[in-house]
Amino acid sequence: MLNWSELETQCKSCRECGLCETRTNVVFGAGSHNAQVLFIGEGPGEQEDLQGKPFVGRAGKLLDDMLSLIHLDRERIYIANIVKCRPPGNRDPQRTEQDVCIHWLRIQTALLKPKIVVCLGRIAAQKIINESFKITQEHGLWYERQGCRLTALYHPAALLRDPRRRPETFTDLKQLEAMIREVCPETYESPT
Ligand code: URA
Repeated sequence: MLNWSELETQCKSCRECGLCETRTNVVFGAGSHNAQVLFIGEGPGEQEDLQGKPFVGRAGKLLDDMLSLIHLDRERIYIANIVKCRPPGNRDPQRTEQDVCIHWLRIQTALLKPKIVVCLGRIAAQKIINESFKITQEHGLWYERQGCRLTALYHPAALLRDPRRRPETFTDLKQLEAMIREVCPETYESPT
């Protein structure tokens, strides 16, 4: 299997779907290669495309606030997306784009071997947890696959659009913190 730096190099030269024509940068992912908690978004927006890093726009600022509520920061986790290149105009990534791109995330996941996967929003939850996932009904619920715990939160961009969802997300975050303390307490203990 490829190592992290080989994978990143190959991913950054990917031309497997049409999104490569309009991207500025491939947004590979960021965080600790030793993380036991993997956050997955749907795909880069404008700022992410310009900077080549995940969640650096307004939604990213809110994600940082959400992490700090549970005493986490980006150095203790890994953040990646379902598609690595920005869909033009921030439209949802198409099924075909997701299907073509997902192998990069699968290798990232195989390298990381996370104990907890947190999907941010419907698109990631439908791709990773199950294709009929209903984010309004199933956010904060826990699933298990091959010893890995999976959950989904509202996407931070959805929380910016509809702040009424924030109290539920606060509850989901506190349960996420409890789950991390139970299954991978090193996340809170290890020096960064
Ligand atoms: N939204 C996402 O889903 N991913 C990013 O990296 C940024 C915004």
